[in-house]
Amino acid sequence: MKVDWRAIVVTVGLWICVQAIKYAPDLEGPYCETRPKGCCPGRQDGCSVPILGTLCYCDDFCNRTSNDDCCPDFWSHCKGIPRPPEEVRTCYFQGRYYLHREKFKVNCKECECQDVGGRMDVLCETQECIVEEEVISQINQNSREFGWRAGNYSEFWGRRLDEGLAKRLGNLHSKKKVLKMEPLKLMYDADSIPRSFDSRNEWPGLITGPIDQTGDCAASWAVSTAAVASDRYAIMTKRPITLAPQHLLSCNSKSQQGCNGGHLTRAWIFIRKFGLVPESCYSWVAAQTECRVPKKKKLQMSKCPQGRPSPFTPLYRVGPVYKLKNEKDIMFDIMTSGPVQATMKISREFFLYKTGVYHCSSAPSNKRTGYHAVRIIGWGSEFSPLTNREERFWIVSNSWGPSWGERGYFRIRRGSNECEIESFVIAAWGSPSDVNNLINSGKYNIDSLVDQAHNMTDVRNDLMRRK
Ligand SMILES: *[C@@H]1O[C@H](CO)[C@@H](O)[C@H](O)[C@H]1NC(C)=O
Ligand SMILES: *[C@@H]1O[C@H](CO)[C@@H](O)[C@H](O)[C@H]1NC(C)=O
Ligand SMILES: *[C@@H]1O[C@H](CO)[C@@H](O)[C@H](O)[C@H]1NC(C)=O
Repeated sequence: MKVDWRAIVVTVGLWICVQAIKYAPDLEGPYCETRPKGCCPGRQDGCSVPILGTLCYCDDFCNRTSNDDCCPDFWSHCKGIPRPPEEVRTCYFQGRYYLHREKFKVNCKECECQDVGGRMDVLCETQECIVEEEVISQINQNSREFGWRAGNYSEFWGRRLDEGLAKRLGNLHSKKKVLKMEPLKLMYDADSIPRSFDSRNEWPGLITGPIDQTGDCAASWAVSTAAVASDRYAIMTKRPITLAPQHLLSCNSKSQQGCNGGHLTRAWIFIRKFGLVPESCYSWVAAQTECRVPKKKKLQMSKCPQGRPSPFTPLYRVGPVYKLKNEKDIMFDIMTSGPVQATMKISREFFLYKTGVYHCSSAPSNKRTGYHAVRIIGWGSEFSPLTNREERFWIVSNSWGPSWGERGYFRIRRGSNECEIESFVIAAWGSPSDVNNLINSGKYNIDSLVDQAHNMTDVRNDLMRRK
């Protein structure tokens, strides 16, 4: 075997050199160019220039080894070609390569390919996202324990949990005094309460659909209050009506925080004092715009802010807000007067709800949470093949549009105050007397006033068009 001793000797020598020098890209500058004799062909050990206390080479032999000991300007000056690129440093992450310092987003997190003590690694922010694959599969693989199924919603994908809690809910937690509000005393025969009840079947055409808060406006306080008021008003007058949550959002600004949340009792007091105009007069835009309806206590009529479908509208008022004490009272009130409003404590899992009977009890108590306002429209019970038990539930309307949950609704365990949903349930009776007086005065034809939009589908479509 022929051994190339020269190469071995040089390699050993080089190894020591390489320990000492690492030619960084900023070591540009004339080296070979400064040699009077210039570059050398073949191997010439003396064909070198001092660099950083050692030597670099300008002979062709310098290119033979993997550890490049050529002078930084060897390629450009001697060979007239650009220096070969530095070894490209990359991170491999979830099936693809990222360059050193490359930033990218994974779900809601900002990540970067970094040099961590000589190892290339991807570092990501640590905050929680609303949608996490592990959470979804944990819920769906343990559906026996959970009793409901989770899914991925594209509007929540890539969003941080703190954004979800701040921008998709919107019920400010009221003062103890409000929460302790004395509940209404109801007298009824408990046997008269059916096993199941759905307002949509009891009052067909009079119950508002699952509304969409749309976008980043935490206004469940306005949306659910207007919906409960609409339902109850419609049930009382037997005419469908959709009152404008935008009226509340824009005009009930005192001590409320618009798209950052509001108090439910204050919203009800506002409707009692000033009334609401119909949705068709003041469409939902999911932003706190300037108030366009005069705020006067005695006023019975208002201009329609949009000037259509008619130039004027009655202001729809409600009676005083009241609180309901327990499961049976809530049921009795729904079946006699219509849907009610409830406050609910929300943690991340709820955003992912797809179907089934939801409950909070499996969530760890240290979870980050927020408060949401929802509308209970009925109840029922069914044998759940998931939990292998009879599940009693409330039927509840959320305000995240019809593609969320069970067509915009969800079911939640009833009778065990799940997610605090039974601890602050309120409503008010419609108070049609003002409007009736107006009609009886003969000055007005109600048919020209009644809201044409029975649900908010057209409002949402309109919003989409304007985007
Ligand atoms: C390195 O030198 C050899 C000759 O010694 C030559 O064949 C080869 O092309 C050179 N490589 C580069 C990248 O110039
Ligand atoms: C969720 O949906 C989005 C698109 O809507 C998709 O990009 C993402 O990969 C999905 N995530 C999971 C965990 O399924
Ligand atoms: C919602 O309104 C649209 C248009 O006004 C109507 O076509 C549709 O039937 C309504 N849906 C419900 C459930 O009332």
